[in-house]
Amino acid sequence: MSARLLPGAPVASSVLADVSERVARLRERGVVPSLATILVGSDDASAGYIRIKQRQAAELGFASPHKHLPDDAKQADLEAAIASFNDDPDVHGLLIQYPVPAHLDYDAALLTVNPDMDVDGMHPLNVGRLSLGLAGPKPCTPAGIEALLAHYEIPVSGREVVILGRGATLGRPLAILLSQKRPTANAAVTVVHTGVPDWQRYTQRADIVVAAAGVPGILQPSHVKPGAVVIGAGVRYEGRRLLPDVDESCAEVAGAITPRVGGVGPTTVAMLFRNAVQAAETLS
Ligand SMILES: NC(=O)c1ccc[n+]([C@@H]2O[C@H](COP(=O)([O-])OP(=O)(O)OC[C@H]3O[C@@H](n4cnc5c(N)ncnc54)[C@H](OP(=O)(O)O)[C@@H]3O)[C@@H](O)[C@H]2O)c1
Repeated sequence: MSARLLPGAPVASSVLADVSERVARLRERGVVPSLATILVGSDDASAGYIRIKQRQAAELGFASPHKHLPDDAKQADLEAAIASFNDDPDVHGLLIQYPVPAHLDYDAALLTVNPDMDVDGMHPLNVGRLSLGLAGPKPCTPAGIEALLAHYEIPVSGREVVILGRGATLGRPLAILLSQKRPTANAAVTVVHTGVPDWQRYTQRADIVVAAAGVPGILQPSHVKPGAVVIGAGVRYEGRRLLPDVDESCAEVAGAITPRVGGVGPTTVAMLFRNAVQAAETLS
């Protein structure tokens, strides 16, 4: 069997078309949505990610003020930059490029971000809102996965989803999202991790498997039920080489699968802008 491919680009295009319309409506009433970014240090990859986001922000009609702090910036410098964006009425969304240099405390800095401006959806208040089913920015990658499944009309409600990995950015919030009462979610969700040494027993019976471990090749064809949907979200980078959790040969067993490159990634970026336009609507 050769699985149907589930690329992220068409999903991202449709999310971003909606974002563009919402940006246009804001601009019609004199609001220029603004997504601010903060970069600390001189890491080339991080600078590249910021440039990509700024370019996309400009294409979508967002202003994108930016603050670049030096490698030796202090925690107080980072928090002062956050405070100045928090207090600027023209700024609606705020992104701190992760990771920050090791001497800085990212989590402590995130706590000082206005939760309504938190486009990553990772502020503890937003994680609490997510858990309680309250409105607020959703963590981008989990929200992107729900959107991808919905876009390809893959039934989720009532089906068994097994998530390999319980990390704070991916597995755990995805489990919350997909178990919520909503037509695009409403699943029986199981989360497996290193505490479940026979995790394969769970993935083998799942209708949908999400690999979210960050362990290259951890998901093999023998771990997947024939015809199941496989979503590869976990990746590790070795230099510029991307090493996905899902072994390519899983496509021989799965009914549908995200491609090795261009699966979940584009949907994550689209969700960032969805959170940003939502922030502008909330705060303006
Ligand atoms: N595509 C995207 O846009 C995107 C966005 C965000 C994250 N990611 C990727 O998603 C992955 C997970 O991110 P995260 O922040 O949630 O990572 P994390 O906090 O490191 O979580 C990894 C999870 O995988 C589990 N795990 C690791 N090795 C395992 C093994 N051998 N057997 C069973 N479980 C194992 C860990 O179990 P324990 O809890 O027991 O240690 C942990 O729950 C990373 O690869 C990250 O790069 C991708």
